[in-house]
Amino acid sequence: MSATDSPPPPVSGLTIHQDQPWLAPLAGFSDLPFRLLCRHYGCGAAFTEMVSAKGVVYQTRNTLELLKTCPEDSPLVVQLYGSDPQVIIKSMSILLDQGFIFFDLNCGCPVKKVIKTGSGAALLKNPDLIVEMALAMSEAAGPGRSGIKIRLGWNNEKHVYLELAEKLSGSGIGWITLHPRTAVQLFSGKAIWNALKILKKAARIPVIASGDLFTAQDALECVRETGVDNIMFARGALNNPSVFEQYKRLRGQNFIAEADHSNLRDMCVKTIEYYQRYHSSQKAVLKMRTLIPRMIREIPGAKELRKQIIMSKDWGSIEKAVAGIG
Ligand SMILES: Cc1cc2nc3c(=O)[nH]c(=O)nc-3n(C[C@H](O)[C@H](O)[C@H](O)COP(=O)(O)O)c2cc1C
Repeated sequence: MSATDSPPPPVSGLTIHQDQPWLAPLAGFSDLPFRLLCRHYGCGAAFTEMVSAKGVVYQTRNTLELLKTCPEDSPLVVQLYGSDPQVIIKSMSILLDQGFIFFDLNCGCPVKKVIKTGSGAALLKNPDLIVEMALAMSEAAGPGRSGIKIRLGWNNEKHVYLELAEKLSGSGIGWITLHPRTAVQLFSGKAIWNALKILKKAARIPVIASGDLFTAQDALECVRETGVDNIMFARGALNNPSVFEQYKRLRGQNFIAEADHSNLRDMCVKTIEYYQRYHSSQKAVLKMRTLIPRMIREIPGAKELRKQIIMSKDWGSIEKAVAGIG
């Protein structure tokens, strides 16, 4: 069994605290090397990319790839998507046997491929089904070990987030993550942080904030304005994996990662190291072509460097381009 095949350690706590920022589920990005990179910079818990519950049941190759982990990759939350409570439970039983202990239900993905199966944000049209699945998940994993990730509602005609919090109160569900936009909004407009504040006041379940947390300062302000129990970085972490460390420092913690990450070049080198070590396929080079250009987008000369990286076909050219970061 290789390092990346081994399951996470049997028990480890999932801290829900404003000082322990989480890494959001990010389809196409929050894979093992990226999660480890974010942990290096102080991420308190990380989510897998959304994983199809059906894929887990049928053990498809793609699903197994998404579930790759290692003992250092902890605490880890497996985010599932699906629309059939029975399939969700079956997938969880397989995952629990494999050593995974924390789970999340995707009720916010607005991508066509997902919603046409009744999963992701389509579930927001049927809050009772979300409640049924969440209760079943909580029973399967044990109290406090499953959460749901939602948006305000399908559209502005009917917001369901407060109804869900109310119905799930006392259910054993460990957290509710709210991305305060509607599904039809996709990523347009601004995330309505005030809805997080309202949810936090009403809910008897920990509330996690997601939405427009691009920088450490954004996250700090969101916590101050809304009183949420924790935040998760999504696009903010993609643009800058050291955002976790910056946030912790802003919160007055004396956290220092090993590397000198105030240096952008070091952060890119670290990214390469994690992908070389923990990504099993040739596709890792392709990942660098999307990740690193995001990280360097604001530096002088970014345009030329990005071009070099996007055109790279092997590690050598990626490393050469990164060495040119000032
Ligand atoms: C590339 C990308 C992939 C995402 N994949 C997922 C996913 O698999 N599951 C999920 O619940 N949310 C997913 N999201 C939504 C994020 O987790 C987060 O809720 C959203 O980006 C809002 O946070 P932000 O504005 O701080 O980026 C994704 C977002 C992006 C940009």
